[in-house]
Amino acid sequence: MSEIDALLREDRTFEPSADFRAKAHVSDPGVYARAAENPEAFWEGFAHELEWIEPWSRVLEWNPPHAKWFVGGKLNVSANCLDRHVRTWRRNKAAFIWEGEPGDRRTLTYFDLYRQVCQFANVLKGLGIRKGDRVALYMPLVPELAVAMLACARIGAVHSVVFGGFSAESLRDRINDAQARLLVTADGGYRRGGIIPLKQMADEALAETPSIEHVVVVRRGYSDIPVHMKEGRDRWYHELMDGAPFECAPEPMDSEDMLYILYTSGTTGKPKGIVHTTAGYLLGCYATTKWVFDVKDDDVYWCSADIGWVTGHSYVVYGPLANGATVVMYEGAPDWPQKDRFWEIIERYGVTIFYTAPTAIRAFMRWGTDWPARRDMSTLRLLGSVGEPINPEAWVWYHLHIGRERCPIVDTWWQTETGSILITPLPGITRTKPGSATQPFPGISAKVLNHAGEEVPVGGGLLALTKPWPSMLRGIYGDPDRYVQQYWSRWSKDIYFTGDGAKLDDDGYYWLLGRVDDVLNVAGHRIGTMEVESALVDHPKVAESAVVGRPHQIKGHALCAFVTVKEGVYHSEALADELKSHVAHKIGAIARPDDIIFAADLPKTRSGKIMRRLLRDIAEGKTLGDTTTLADPSVVARLREQYQEEA
Ligand code: PRX
Repeated sequence: MSEIDALLREDRTFEPSADFRAKAHVSDPGVYARAAENPEAFWEGFAHELEWIEPWSRVLEWNPPHAKWFVGGKLNVSANCLDRHVRTWRRNKAAFIWEGEPGDRRTLTYFDLYRQVCQFANVLKGLGIRKGDRVALYMPLVPELAVAMLACARIGAVHSVVFGGFSAESLRDRINDAQARLLVTADGGYRRGGIIPLKQMADEALAETPSIEHVVVVRRGYSDIPVHMKEGRDRWYHELMDGAPFECAPEPMDSEDMLYILYTSGTTGKPKGIVHTTAGYLLGCYATTKWVFDVKDDDVYWCSADIGWVTGHSYVVYGPLANGATVVMYEGAPDWPQKDRFWEIIERYGVTIFYTAPTAIRAFMRWGTDWPARRDMSTLRLLGSVGEPINPEAWVWYHLHIGRERCPIVDTWWQTETGSILITPLPGITRTKPGSATQPFPGISAKVLNHAGEEVPVGGGLLALTKPWPSMLRGIYGDPDRYVQQYWSRWSKDIYFTGDGAKLDDDGYYWLLGRVDDVLNVAGHRIGTMEVESALVDHPKVAESAVVGRPHQIKGHALCAFVTVKEGVYHSEALADELKSHVAHKIGAIARPDDIIFAADLPKTRSGKIMRRLLRDIAEGKTLGDTTTLADPSVVARLREQYQEEA
């Protein structure tokens, strides 16, 4: 640790090396000023690097809070990710290098991927899927997931990927909200040596999803998972692909046609379907992959995120493929079969760019430096971080032990809603500070505002975006009011509220401080406190619950649930376990509470609102904030005593 302390104590900043700078896609700091002067012209520059079927007539139409980008343009995302590479020498370049957790490996060239996407697009058409139809994808991290996404994009169907760690109920709700007509799933996937039986879970969901007409099931290799195929509804992927035609013309899509829906947690009990459209989203992913990750043709790029999250959509699939990159994909856990699996993968494929989450970095730190030290990682030249604020200790550890003091680190701030990276260093330009996401990407207008909407030039406040950007969300599926309410009503309808707190330092550097709303970030996964609360009160023995986050060494935050039980029910450890399992069953294992604290009563205002802020203070062991609005102040005192006894 002393090495880390030394780097931190000096309040050090880190400069890109002259060598890195000389070869980087962007090394001229003047791009910031030029983009700020005319953001639309700046974005238009990237649009010229994409392939269009028909050109756009206007870059931006902004009727706050509704934006249209590249108005009138026509293009196809899958053609941009595949066809234009297949026409060049990249035809035989590796698109995906995939490794399954048990150790099985596959490489798909751009031509392989192109062909499979065309075939699956034809399969989808054969099953009656047309432009605008929604297709749900519930899959392990296998190339077929990317194939299915790109096949949807090819024919203009809208995909809705549901992370394979979500429960049957979560899948059901997402399918029903989007009214998906078809589901693509797999027999199962591997995680830490175990099998997640996706088809079995999907079957449970499918009992209550009337909109689904067909289910396509991918056989995930040599698994021995029993699968029940329902006659007339369920079909095997490999059987449908066998003999499917090799050519499928890409559907000309309007710039603003929907590309996908991705559900994410908000401040209510119901996840929201974030809508992304075609041109602006692709452009944002393309531009940031090129400039932030500095991806070039000889790179081997690995983003360790699951495709079930937005990071996987933008930086495993669309951004890198639009750039013609070689992408590593790994199905399983970082500590399987031992704690150097990631470093082994980096060594095996000669990974040059590696993008992961702070929660993973903190776990690596805890496992010790011997694991990375025994692998050859000399090919690495750039590292990235995403998902939550990275603590400076983890940043410096990453720099020393993975980057070996040679690789710039890009700490990238963005959200499901923003579609692509918005606050980030540019690795050939930016001097970095451990823990700071540094500067808005060129063309992005970010500000720190106080509650009244006044700009905070130095100091803390709420992070806002004051101009539209191409990859911004276009809405919440089926809920236009919530879109306006949630994001564009805090100050005025042309200012986007991120839900994050941020601080600006004297150099104008951004330091992200975490969510200021009822959204928690647990191990880089976004979880709504209300969702967990609804799952808890759904249990017959629970009367009321309030969920808060408390700091956790590895996960960033842990879920701490205060629960009051119904009359006649006794508190017990067994009941606590039962409640944890209940939440995992309702939402997914990622939402399983770490602590259940039984309370006689919850602290409420006189109007009956639960004061989560006080519960947070209790969970964090802090001095209590303002308690004057409490209906019954003795409730907190009792809770606090009890919490300290149990902790
Ligand atoms: O709080 C911020 C945090 O993750 C939230 C977005 O979560 P999600 O939509 O699931 O997307 C995660 C991957 C883009 C943000 O509101 N967050 C994400 N990246 C960072 C971050 N916080 C600080 N620094 C980051 N680099």
